[in-house]
Amino acid sequence: MPGPGVELIGEEEIAEVMQVLTSRSLSRYGSADDPDFGAKVRHVEVEIASLAGVRYALGLSGGGSGGLWISLLGLGIGPGDEVIVPGFTFVASISAIVYARATPVLAEVDDSFNLDPADVEARITPRTRAIIVVHMLGAPARLDELKDVADRHGIPIIEDCAQAFGATYQGQGVGGIGATGVYSFNEYKTITCGDGGMIVTDDEDLYGRLFAIHDQGHAPNRLGSKYAERPFLGMNFRMTELSGAVLLAQVRKLDLIRTHLRANKKIVKTMIADLPGLGFRTVVDPEGDLATHLVVTFPSAEVARNVATELGSITLDASGWHVYSNMEHLLQRRTVSGKGCPFDCSCYGTGEADYYRGMLPLTDALLARSLSIGIGVFDANLAPFGLRMSDDEAAARRVAERFCEVATPYLAG
Ligand SMILES: Cc1ncc(COP(=O)(O)O)c(C=O)c1O
Repeated sequence: MPGPGVELIGEEEIAEVMQVLTSRSLSRYGSADDPDFGAKVRHVEVEIASLAGVRYALGLSGGGSGGLWISLLGLGIGPGDEVIVPGFTFVASISAIVYARATPVLAEVDDSFNLDPADVEARITPRTRAIIVVHMLGAPARLDELKDVADRHGIPIIEDCAQAFGATYQGQGVGGIGATGVYSFNEYKTITCGDGGMIVTDDEDLYGRLFAIHDQGHAPNRLGSKYAERPFLGMNFRMTELSGAVLLAQVRKLDLIRTHLRANKKIVKTMIADLPGLGFRTVVDPEGDLATHLVVTFPSAEVARNVATELGSITLDASGWHVYSNMEHLLQRRTVSGKGCPFDCSCYGTGEADYYRGMLPLTDALLARSLSIGIGVFDANLAPFGLRMSDDEAAARRVAERFCEVATPYLAG
């Protein structure tokens, strides 16, 4: 059971899905005259927009990856443009830029394990058109500082909230602060419908563009789309009512998920806090932490590796495609067309984009001496040691005790 939401699937999800099947209206564009049409996608969009504190939300069949791609396209980003993205993120944050034919510019993360604002600013060039701020492992990035940098340079922020749906920043749901915010609902995420995503925004024009990209160029209206208003060619990323139904039941479990994970995280953190030399990730807004992960740091990479191995876990630098240096397709600039665009296409102008192990030394060093204790997400490539949503307080205490037992000899030495 990878994420918290999937463990809670029960009668509520079944009832919502049965309603859709019984109505035989599986598309989001059901008829307003049909009393059986539940408009599940529309309803969950309204709930999620409200959680983010913005006016618009758009359900997608294309997951968080599609949401990032559509956000970039909606902002008019394309060939010749650069987009700054952290080197510690799931590969999709980077692939979306490549699929928009823009160039990813990798930046360092700091002790928040999210983008380092000073490093972002240092990488801004006249070609920079967006910053993808990823809220990794459930905790918000330094949004105040990043927004300050972005605003001073007139560059929009796209919030990648795939791993942080339900986290808040200064009381507002993450996703509502940037030009767009993107959620993923795959099985590893806070809530799930198997696969799917959502974009939120408070910008009416941008919402119109996002909607049009996601549905053949159409303009949105309440239940359906306005025909004969097609500003440009679009695609099809429409969310089905079946996905919307599952999500609607899941989103109503968000408070339960957050409360449970935060309580378990507090138990584990308190019990291991006094280990000498053990550090913790800086959580910039502790009130807003989703608490899916507890990230700890060790005095050296060697100690971290030894502890991780004995726990049956991994250090964060070994976490598969969450680290730029493990993304072999990026390092080798392998694109689907094989033509090299965007990395060396003529639109890019001077110079070729280059990616290599060691290009982000601060990120590399930090991740090598860190590991995540999963609190509500089990992912063999990220946090194989820890808790699941179904684990109670006693299990949280056992995990903390086991961690202390393994780590103490290494930290004492
Ligand atoms: C940080 C991040 N961004 C984007 C994505 C892509 O989301 P999806 O799998 O829904 O396409 C993920 C998924 O794991 C993610 O963790």
